[in-house]
Amino acid sequence: MTETRAKRALITGITGQDGSYLAELLLSKGYEVHGLIRRASTFNTARIDHLYTDPHVAGTRLFLHYGDLSDGSRLATLLDSVKPDEVYNLAAQSHVRVSFDEPEYTGNSTGLGSIRLLEAIRMVGLDCRYYQASSSEMFGATPPPQNEETPFYPRSPYGAAKVYSYWVTRNYREGYGMFAVNGILFNHESPRRGETFVTRKITRAVARIKAGQQSELFMGNLDAVRDWGYAPEYVEAMWRMLQHDEPTDYVVATGTDYTVRDFLQFSFEHAGLDWEKYVRFDERYLRPTEVDALVGDAGKAERLLGWVPTVKTPELARLMVDADIEALDAAGRPWIDTVTVGPWAPAPQI
Ligand code: NAP
Ligand code: GDD
Repeated sequence: MTETRAKRALITGITGQDGSYLAELLLSKGYEVHGLIRRASTFNTARIDHLYTDPHVAGTRLFLHYGDLSDGSRLATLLDSVKPDEVYNLAAQSHVRVSFDEPEYTGNSTGLGSIRLLEAIRMVGLDCRYYQASSSEMFGATPPPQNEETPFYPRSPYGAAKVYSYWVTRNYREGYGMFAVNGILFNHESPRRGETFVTRKITRAVARIKAGQQSELFMGNLDAVRDWGYAPEYVEAMWRMLQHDEPTDYVVATGTDYTVRDFLQFSFEHAGLDWEKYVRFDERYLRPTEVDALVGDAGKAERLLGWVPTVKTPELARLMVDADIEALDAAGRPWIDTVTVGPWAPAPQI
């Protein structure tokens, strides 16, 4: 009897918000998961430490490898040794405001990084399915609702780099017959969201203000409209895209529209606070060109993948505030693993 081996996935950006949830999802489905991590002088794996086991232990299914999207030859050697069935390209300099400060670096990692990976797959001769983390930022100034047919009008070096990655992904699909798909994901958040994105910046501040550790919160444009969903649900959509019969591109969104001001209100209210007493304006958080409104139409993902989001922005704000309050509390009890504190993981045994 022939034994079938577990499916093997490679995730770039495994140390990020989405990478950590995707690694959890794939491990729960029996995959062998390989992650690309950057060498740093300090540990940068906090979001996945709870998944990690010593590779010397029998049955280990998560493996981490050093590499960087700026290093094409490394991508080729890694792909050649791992031979994944599925590649999820989530790595990027993903902060829009930072992309105005570091436009060249953003172009190199967020844009050229994708073609290095695609070209490495082609050079190695790997038969795998490829997921590209495309973004609603590509729509930029084109008004909502946005779907797969909406024209791109990027408003930042980040958005422009993502448009480049989108097109090379399609080009490798059309030109070389690769199973390569773009997931055009609208903003998605969680308690693992990077601390400088607006939702997490707000929910962390709420926890700190509530605890008497902070008295003001400096913000930029409160009028921006976003379609904020819940990250664990969005990584499920990524996986479904690679299981579909045909490679095609999908918008992933909740279809709801809220302003940054709304998110402030939901978050502060949940902690029994009045946001207007604490929020101040600081122009440093404005962008040279803003994306005013992103609201997605995910009808195609629902029709072809059966994907339907359940967590909407008000609930998302509440669960993020709860997690930040709990994490702050746990910080005073350092034996608790704060990354896994939250509704998606068992409560720590103390
Ligand atoms: P994130 O938390 O910022 O994670 C980014 C990941 O990329 C981290 O693991 C980071 O490693 C890694 N990375 C950055 N530069 C790299 C490089 N040069 N080489 C290798 N790895 C590198 O982002 P996220 O929110 O999880 O988003 C995942 C992907 O989806 C990104 O491509 C993002 O642009 C895209 N996206 C996100 C959203 C959203 O709302 N979250 C929406 C649409 C698209 P370190 O940990 O070492 O920094
Ligand atoms: N970060 C931040 N900090 N944003 C602020 C602030 C602030 O103090 N004040 C207002 N904002 C506004 C921004 O101007 C923007 O309009 C909105 O809040 C959301 O900002 P971010 O949370 O930084 O996210 P983003 O929409 O620019 O980009 C995120 O979503 C994209 C998908 O649409 C990132 O995750 C990108 O990687 C992703 O592609």
